[in-house]
Amino acid sequence: MAQFAIHPIHRFHGQSQPMRRPREFTCFSYDDEHALHLDDRSLRWYYPPQFPQGMDLSRGFDSFVKHDDDGVDEHLDSLLAAVVAHEQATRTKIDAQVLTWRGMMTKIMATPYDDRDGFEMNATFYQGCIFIEENHAYKVATRREQEARQNRPPPRQNPDRPWFPPDVMSYWGYKFETLSTLPRPWGEVTRDEIEGRDDATVSNKAQYCSVVRTGIGSSILCLGGEVDAVWDAKPQTPGGKQPIRWVELKTSADIASERDLEFFERKLLKFWIQSFLLGVPTIVVGFRSRQGRLVRLEEIATEGIPGTVRQRAALTQKPPLWDGDTCINFASAFLEWLRATMADSDGVWRIRRRPGSPEIEVFQVEETGHGNILPDTFLNWR
Ligand code: A3P
Ligand code: MG
Ligand code: MG
Repeated sequence: MAQFAIHPIHRFHGQSQPMRRPREFTCFSYDDEHALHLDDRSLRWYYPPQFPQGMDLSRGFDSFVKHDDDGVDEHLDSLLAAVVAHEQATRTKIDAQVLTWRGMMTKIMATPYDDRDGFEMNATFYQGCIFIEENHAYKVATRREQEARQNRPPPRQNPDRPWFPPDVMSYWGYKFETLSTLPRPWGEVTRDEIEGRDDATVSNKAQYCSVVRTGIGSSILCLGGEVDAVWDAKPQTPGGKQPIRWVELKTSADIASERDLEFFERKLLKFWIQSFLLGVPTIVVGFRSRQGRLVRLEEIATEGIPGTVRQRAALTQKPPLWDGDTCINFASAFLEWLRATMADSDGVWRIRRRPGSPEIEVFQVEETGHGNILPDTFLNWR
């Protein structure tokens, strides 16, 4: 077993390692039935809700049928299908040294400031690249534990902070997406489509996923992840020079105290990493009341977030809650180490961090083959 030490994290302080700007080179969509299409059909356009103040984010919850991905392990299949199609169309192979979901990189990058959540991933080396997927069984098991903990109302309720089941709170996020986006650009929708959004069916089945080439330190990465909407228009030529004006949508409890602000700034760590990795320049936060009503919208520039957190810490003469450069340096060092550890190996590896553990453990779980990480369609093509 090989171990990568997380602590002491001051080893990763200082100016950040070079980053490449993420560039989308292909994309894919899941439709309303969650069927995969190698195109941008599920792209949505940002358009702020009309009269957001006071809108009830719980509206429609009773008829919401959540798409649950616990049942099937999707591995990296859709991401790899998009990569294969791209490679076949361009007759070149991508040059990534690490390929994974954006969510896995988010977990790795947040590690220096996250002692509560662990993670488990499976990885395999093939043709110069490490492919990393989430360990599905671990994900399902931790979600069950979390639900068992959160599904019980607290014994004593605070009327100012009423308790809601986790399913309702997670619905608020999807409802906000429905209220804030359009299926086509503003000029191409009807007034009814704009005004009827509060009555529209909320679904989490459809998704648009961007596939980017990016770099952290010396490692070249291919990442796939969902983007919620585009601000205006997606440039026609993929892989173009212009960054795409993506929008990440988030809901969060409105800030009424110093404690709330600190809570929000901790959440900003994940917001920032998630958007930074795909090159999403703007995050629109729908602040909501404790009762789940929309209070106000705020547009936050992703690149300014680490600076804002640092400056506020300086103002209050407290140590910063987190440091973005440290996250980048940590991820850069970890990826270099992982590449050296797994180089030219056969088989399947586990990448594991136990909650609160001072290290990330990496060990082989299968001596040969690629487990179920790489589908035959991918292996046959390569
Ligand atoms: P909020 O982020 O507004 O809470 P994303 O923000 O990544 O685009 O995710 C969209 C929504 O999915 C979230 O909206 C939330 O409602 C739901 N969601 C994402 N991760 C979740 C998790 N781990 N548990 C419950 N709901 C989650
Ligand atoms: Mg999303
Ligand atoms: Mg979102």
